[in-house]
Amino acid sequence: MKILILNGPNLNLLGKREPGIYGSRGLKQVDDEITSLGNELGVRADFFQSNHEGELVDRLHQAGENEDAIIFNPGAFTHYSYALRDAVAAISIPCIEIHLSNIYAREEFRHHSVIAPVAAGQISGLGPKGYLLALRAAVSLVEKSKEG
Ligand code: DQA
Repeated sequence: MKILILNGPNLNLLGKREPGIYGSRGLKQVDDEITSLGNELGVRADFFQSNHEGELVDRLHQAGENEDAIIFNPGAFTHYSYALRDAVAAISIPCIEIHLSNIYAREEFRHHSVIAPVAAGQISGLGPKGYLLALRAAVSLVEKSKEG
């Protein structure tokens, strides 16, 4: 089983960027923890981060062909990118939306996600641990879909 961990704009700065909100762990550290859990669960985690909307669209299309599920933190695109929403809707594998911060407890413009209606589910506000929970959830979604 292959799961894509897809991170959008500014998430490359994790650890340095607003640490009071996003924590002090860098993206590489978070990715390493996901890889370890993946090894434990017997699944492969693939990683991609981009600050560019079109690159994220392209990677979503590729994932539809190559991976079994996606864990997606679209960053600020969450709140307005219909192109990313349409890309998630266009592929048939499940996508779990994730946010490090609790988007509902922050500025009003962050309260709305255009991705959520086409996502299998959403995790928000649990920090890097959310990615690990999402990985477990993604594995169980894929297993269930293979069973039935
Ligand atoms: C974020 C929340 C977004 O509102 C913000 O633009 C981000 C990160 C999060 O992980 O909490 O870049 O997706």
